[in-house]
Amino acid sequence: MNETAIDRSAAGGRRPSRPGKAGVPPAQPARAVAGSTVAASPAPRDAPAAAPLVALAQRHLLGIQGLLAGEIELILDTARAFAEVSRRPIKKVPTLRGKTIVNLFMEPSTRTRSSFEIAEKRLSADTLNFSLLDSSVSKGETLLDTARNLEAMAPDMIVIRHRAAGAAHLLARHCRSNIINAGDGSHEHPTQALLDAYTIRERKGRLEGLRVAIVGDLMHSRVLRSNLFLLRTMGADLQVCAPPTLVPVGLERLGATVHTRIEPALEGADVIMMLRIQRERQQGGAFPTAREYFNLFGLTRERVRLAKKGAIIMHPGPINRGVEIDSAVADGPESVILEQVANGVSVRMAVLYLISGGTLGELAA
Ligand code: CP
Repeated sequence: MNETAIDRSAAGGRRPSRPGKAGVPPAQPARAVAGSTVAASPAPRDAPAAAPLVALAQRHLLGIQGLLAGEIELILDTARAFAEVSRRPIKKVPTLRGKTIVNLFMEPSTRTRSSFEIAEKRLSADTLNFSLLDSSVSKGETLLDTARNLEAMAPDMIVIRHRAAGAAHLLARHCRSNIINAGDGSHEHPTQALLDAYTIRERKGRLEGLRVAIVGDLMHSRVLRSNLFLLRTMGADLQVCAPPTLVPVGLERLGATVHTRIEPALEGADVIMMLRIQRERQQGGAFPTAREYFNLFGLTRERVRLAKKGAIIMHPGPINRGVEIDSAVADGPESVILEQVANGVSVRMAVLYLISGGTLGELAA
């Protein structure tokens, strides 16, 4: 196996003396900036290259909100560099050798949890996996006490999924480890939005100017919020759609055009992103039956024809077949749903690498 820059870039190794790829500012040294969970104005797209990369400089990834366009591009470009590792016969590089990462998953997960674990193993980190049932949280211990006890064993990073919005921010305020948000309640799911953006960029060559239709349970979706922050920052045209009972108040202020009928939302779309109906977060009564929801809002082959020719179909998973999407569409030629899952590994490798202090310039060296 030929040694590449990725193989050479073991954490703690030399730092690059030159900037990363043209137009992509390299990560800056750590700088303390308070995390934020509240809505704010969009990040400027054209932040000067010398500006601190605010969110990554915290050495946490708590959300997409507040990330600059340059930071998003940096993560996507770094993910592209790491994608090569997953195509090798031996899918392992020493980049995070000696680092310990705790995966603290307090909510069910198939994709995110396995994707982080595979990304960590491909980077040679040591990993510890924790779920709600394995942990003493099930005996009444608080999340913070659990995290502090885990921290006593000196991990470098904690990846957390939790049903409470703000859980990752809480750990970031009280823990020494780098914190990565793997989904907090209905708030944010930043690595999902990053892998979605990566997939769109790989398929369409850009994000700016694309018409993206997002249809489904807008009320409870952290994937929606992270995607709105990201796609707005990158200059996409956002069309969102749900029954009126599943449209959160103030969604327009996040830069989306809101529809309560699916047809106008899909018209001329380059990208269709379907969202799951999250029954576990609903009190009930948002719509009469799954069949009626599918009749009015489900993505069928006929409805796909309203989008642009060559439009791609996305879904973060898990899919409710026959509720938000017809199986013929989910498994059809326009679907990139499994590509999203595959890309998630490279994107999470990039996030882990950058949060640990790595730079794209080092990979490109
Ligand atoms: N997309 C996503 O977050 O899926 P999981 O809940 O399986 O992690």
